[in-house]
Amino acid sequence: MDKNKLLELLRKMTLREKFGQLTQITGEPFIGRADDDMVETGPGYPPDMLEPDTLYTVGSVIGVSSAKMTNRIQSEYLKRSRLKIPLLFMHDAIHGYKTIFPIPLALSCTWDERILEKAAEVTATELRASGIHVNFSPMVDLVRDARWGRVMEAFGEDHLLSGHLGRAMIRGYQKRSDGKIGPAGVAACVKHFAAYGAAVAGKDYNTVDMSMREFYDYYGKPYEIALQEKPKFVMSSFNTFNGVPVTASEAMLRQILRGTYRFDDLVISDWGAVSELQNHRVARDGKEAAELALTAGVDIEMVSTLYLAHFEAIVAEHPELLDDVDAAVLKILQLKNELGLFENPYVDEEAESAVILSPESLEAAREAARRSCVLLKNDHQTLPIGKQHRSILIVGPFSNTRELLGNWACKGSFDDVPTLAEGLKQVDDSLQVNVYDTLDDCPGDVLEQCDYIIAAVGERWDLSGEGHSSVHIGLEDSQQQLIRQVKRLNKPYACVFFSGRPLALQDIIDDIPALLWCWYPGTQAGVAIAELLTGQETPSGKLTMSFPRYSAQTPIYYNEYSTGRPANASSYSSRYQDCEIGPLFAFGHGLTYTGTEYANFRQSSDRITAEQGITFSFDIHNPSGYDYPEIVILYIEDLVSKAARPTREMKKYRVVPVPARQTVHVELTISLDDLQYLDANLQRTVEPGEFRVYINDLAKPVFAFVYEDAV
Ligand code: GLC
Repeated sequence: MDKNKLLELLRKMTLREKFGQLTQITGEPFIGRADDDMVETGPGYPPDMLEPDTLYTVGSVIGVSSAKMTNRIQSEYLKRSRLKIPLLFMHDAIHGYKTIFPIPLALSCTWDERILEKAAEVTATELRASGIHVNFSPMVDLVRDARWGRVMEAFGEDHLLSGHLGRAMIRGYQKRSDGKIGPAGVAACVKHFAAYGAAVAGKDYNTVDMSMREFYDYYGKPYEIALQEKPKFVMSSFNTFNGVPVTASEAMLRQILRGTYRFDDLVISDWGAVSELQNHRVARDGKEAAELALTAGVDIEMVSTLYLAHFEAIVAEHPELLDDVDAAVLKILQLKNELGLFENPYVDEEAESAVILSPESLEAAREAARRSCVLLKNDHQTLPIGKQHRSILIVGPFSNTRELLGNWACKGSFDDVPTLAEGLKQVDDSLQVNVYDTLDDCPGDVLEQCDYIIAAVGERWDLSGEGHSSVHIGLEDSQQQLIRQVKRLNKPYACVFFSGRPLALQDIIDDIPALLWCWYPGTQAGVAIAELLTGQETPSGKLTMSFPRYSAQTPIYYNEYSTGRPANASSYSSRYQDCEIGPLFAFGHGLTYTGTEYANFRQSSDRITAEQGITFSFDIHNPSGYDYPEIVILYIEDLVSKAARPTREMKKYRVVPVPARQTVHVELTISLDDLQYLDANLQRTVEPGEFRVYINDLAKPVFAFVYEDAV
């Protein structure tokens, strides 16, 4: 349909029909209570709030899936819709739809935009085959507090990495880079704008307060970067920002999002967030809540249907809002048109099964799972399991489970997930593998004959994710006891951890010789992990979020300020008296089996100018037989600045393929722009001074340079 036809359609719409397009509901009014093809991701809103003649004006449905179900609803809806405007179907397939990839925090540990783009592409293909047009992903919220259950959905504690990985997923979802939707693409939705990850004390939905310097240079940066990829949607967050709920904040949604960040497409509220303005106590009733959200620039109301309940009164008092309403409705019509829904609102039910869980999708999930795992510790090369070890005993609560998808795995099925044991047998069928939940369950002869033990432990999948903030993020006592029991057997052993967040392991880490962190690896879990445990592949992931030693040592993150009393052995320094300084495992930490060495560090100059950047080069030598991806991370340190800056700032990263027994030359260039920061007056500036450069190791500078003012 061409634009004139769309404008003609818009002109025909009644006010109710326009506000219907600005309303999203669950599938319940169409198919009754939640069933396998319908999920609810928040507190229920009674669907009978809508009269039938209103119901058939709504613009989109959330949480319904499968070609059959979306076709059924679409068909019934279009029969009753006066103007025959098709529905959009939206869902949360945040790391896969049926083929489940590792949770986003795990995917971020690949540092590989190609991996994330591929995961998004596969997800988009499966979503479209199932009749879904919009995906509420990527979440790019910066996270620093592992108590917050939603860190599992994020890309970690660095703002640049979070933004660029978010961009990669948007490219994968929309399958184009110009803001249009490619074939078999879905509309992406950047969330949760803004700074939802900074909820005080890591408590979900809690207050967010920060300086605008902290926002623009850190918490806002991932959205700013991700928006450059032109996602169709941005989701407004639940939280207040400096005292104003974002969903009612013109400053956030109009001045910053649409002004400073130049976003010009659709803003959708989070689940019920418009109605929750009443809980925030900034709206005395539903009408005022709807009015505030509409005025702030929320185009589509998710689930709470207050726009439809109060639009007549609101428009009567604020006719000036009608231009925004028309603009938003036109964008929705344009998206439906771009997706071809006016010509064909249905999806081919026969084609769905051929697309879902395809071999190539599963291979992509397997590679992503392998690359997401992080080898945190490996004393005495305990891993990989040596060829001399053929009888493997796996013990622990995760020894025999398929529940390795994480807490927001959309339509992923545990039945599709190979267990750790199945993975080991598939990867090396010469292994004898025994599996028991606890050592006490294990018969003496099995214990006697096994020559290698894997303790499969961690945090249950339903203890992280939305609404799952925790004050205790250590390993539960029974699992610590299990590890100590295994240690007392005096056989080689390693620990494989599953979790949706960093865990605080100070109390148990000395009893763990080798530690492979697998997060929630998704549909190919068992096989991908087995490839690493047996040494068929080497671990290559690096942490994107610091691991605290204790639950109370959070938030903790790599780019903290020096303070006036930098942490040291003295009690008069910024430290805890009852905790070692620094994280247990740092941002950027991750081991391999390769014995890789870096050498020949060189720099093109020791002074940077506006015209001439500096290229830092070095060689990476891989003496092993593995072809593998080496993650290279470059940090700068500004020794003196007018406003305080973090002591380390990640500025460049690259995933470098290093073939077996080869040496690869790497060059990374820093320009003057990379040295910018927001000074105390919120001016983006570069100050003259001395800088140090770190490669991977946050403690060891390998380069230095100066910037002398041009004048
Ligand atoms: C949830 C989440 C959001 C999700 C939305 C729809 O409450 O906050 O991330 O996209 O509701 O499911």
